[in-house]
Amino acid sequence: MHYQGIIHRYKKYLPVTDATPIVSLCEGRTPLVEAMNIAKLTGVKGLKVFCKIEGLNPSGSFKDRGMTMAVSKAVEEGAKKIICASTGNTSAAAAAYASRVRAMGYEMESFVIIPAGYVALGKLSQAMIYGSKVIQVRGNFDDALNIVKSLSENYPIELVNSLNPYRIEGQKTGAFEIVDELGESPDYLFLPVGNAGNITAYWKGFKEYVPENQKRPHMYGFQAEGASPIVNKRVFDKPETIATAIRIGNPASWEQANRALSESNGHIDSVTDREILDAYKLLHQMDGIACEPSSATGVAGLLKAAKQGLVPENSTVVCILTGNGLKDPSTAIKEVDMDENETYPADAAEIIKVLGLQSLSGVVS
Ligand code: F0G
Repeated sequence: MHYQGIIHRYKKYLPVTDATPIVSLCEGRTPLVEAMNIAKLTGVKGLKVFCKIEGLNPSGSFKDRGMTMAVSKAVEEGAKKIICASTGNTSAAAAAYASRVRAMGYEMESFVIIPAGYVALGKLSQAMIYGSKVIQVRGNFDDALNIVKSLSENYPIELVNSLNPYRIEGQKTGAFEIVDELGESPDYLFLPVGNAGNITAYWKGFKEYVPENQKRPHMYGFQAEGASPIVNKRVFDKPETIATAIRIGNPASWEQANRALSESNGHIDSVTDREILDAYKLLHQMDGIACEPSSATGVAGLLKAAKQGLVPENSTVVCILTGNGLKDPSTAIKEVDMDENETYPADAAEIIKVLGLQSLSGVVS
């Protein structure tokens, strides 16, 4: 049978029954692509680095794994409205899966609350075109999350943020896929940490899929320096970072993340915006691997941790590249030394000059 998404594939590990209407867009089954040059740059001998390209999910981020579960269960329970707060990707995923619910003949409206001015254009446009009601608030993600929490407690509307336990259930399948593909756990899992749902989900996944007497990875989470509450053990009232997806000052799954870190003998640290952008560029330009800026936070973390001697020789690392490179074109364009508005005449002779080419015959035509 053709591939039908993570719920079908990992049914026996997920809280679904034959009565659950499975709302799927064939999410999951994302590739592990080796990043040879990032591995070299770490300077760690024999290091193998794989990137899990979660940007290849249907709405372009890892959120689709959690959303297929949360939305399927919402439909099973008769919900007709879903809501989330988001830095962008959750809203795109919620909007996509709500549309799919309607396609299956059920009633479903979706509402997304996002921080005005801090959501990458690709994500904003996705939530809109999938037919979600988009509400931009003059506040940050943490403010938006407080609003949706109180609404969902008092009104008939289902919360699909990662506080919804089904989101974590779906997202843990990323760990299953890694083990299935490598044949065992990697030694280290590097990933960005924002609201801390994903680090919680991956660790849950490894614990459920890999027996205790076998190797499970150390969870290495990284926050942006200006939004690093877990690292600094304090709420950030005004989180600030170029990595808008993880611009979060008071993560919902803070405690669970700490548990994952201690149980896996892991590590949490922050990286600067410059380190994030450098890793973002390196991935694209040295290994041909795309992701959105926030997703490069784990790779920036790998380069930092390697420098600090925290990554042993001959180990295997998986970096979770959480979102698609096309989500945030403005940051990409700002990062290169090119003027997007500069144009040239549509004339071969002019273009030869611009490229500085010498003709093969040595004669300039
Ligand atoms: N990477 C990307 C691209 C994200 O969109 C997020 C979170 C994370 C990493 C961090 O994952 O929150 O589970 O620790 N985005 C949320 C959103 C907050 O609303 O899309 P986390």
